[in-house]
Amino acid sequence: MPNYLLVEGPEQGVQLLTLNRPESLNALNTEVLRNLSEALDDAEADPEVHAVVITGSRKAFAAGADISEMAARDLVGILEDPRVVHWERIARFTKPIIAAVNGFALGGGCELAMHADILIAGENARFGQPEINLGIMPGAGGTQRLARKVGESLAMHMALTGEPIDARRALQAGLVSEICQPELTIEKAIQIGRTIARKAPIAVRLTKESVRKANDMNLAEGLRFERHAFTVLAGTADRQEGLDAFREKRRPHFKGQ
Ligand code: CAA
Repeated sequence: MPNYLLVEGPEQGVQLLTLNRPESLNALNTEVLRNLSEALDDAEADPEVHAVVITGSRKAFAAGADISEMAARDLVGILEDPRVVHWERIARFTKPIIAAVNGFALGGGCELAMHADILIAGENARFGQPEINLGIMPGAGGTQRLARKVGESLAMHMALTGEPIDARRALQAGLVSEICQPELTIEKAIQIGRTIARKAPIAVRLTKESVRKANDMNLAEGLRFERHAFTVLAGTADRQEGLDAFREKRRPHFKGQ
């Protein structure tokens, strides 16, 4: 089976996953998504991995679902699409994912970027949901996650016109947290990953889960979840270490316990 993913690391707690299907601008066929979800299975199980960076090429993070593969599927084929399982795997990854996006992040590519917890974009990045141009619509979060991230009006504009937005607009809209020169995008994402890798792993995990609940729960439920998670952390050795280290004016040594 082809492997469309380069896996590097972990180095200083960060694993780098690079989509590598340049002949199709990293179009996300089933195999690409399988490679990605299997790599995330490995990263989930590896205690040395504390954060994952997902990136593509300078020209394209990913230009969407593979249109040829999609064209070969009829209604039943789409209903039984094996890609759905891989999308779900990416969505339930418990460690932080940072996307380093250069070039095109369109359709499924934009949807993949939105699965990340932190999104860093090169100045050349273009985010869009062009499915409407193909007579279809987004099917992996390009209406739901997009609306939650950039608001309804811009999400409607993008999904109904198919027009992409540039990195600056994506920053203004809150889709990305930072933009930088394209050649620095991956390094910036790795630096963020390394910063996270030095934190207490259980606190990182529960923080990610809690922030994500902001999309799934109303405020009262979300606040209850947050308080519960905060209380759970009181039972960890790393919390004790963090508080002791502060008072002893030294760096904490977290062990994930
Ligand atoms: N699927 C399959 N192949 C793709 C592709 C895709 N999504 N995007 C690009 N490619 C292929 C092209 O067919 C081309 O292959 P050949 O050289 O064999 O012809 C190669 O990648 C290079 O692409 P272009 O020559 O088109 O490059 P460009 O620089 O002129 O244009 C682009 C770049 C604007 C991104 C253009 O390729 C494009 O519009 N791509 C399609 C984008 C799109 O519509 N994405 C949404 C897909 S549907 C979806 O994503 C649904 C979902 O997840 C649920």
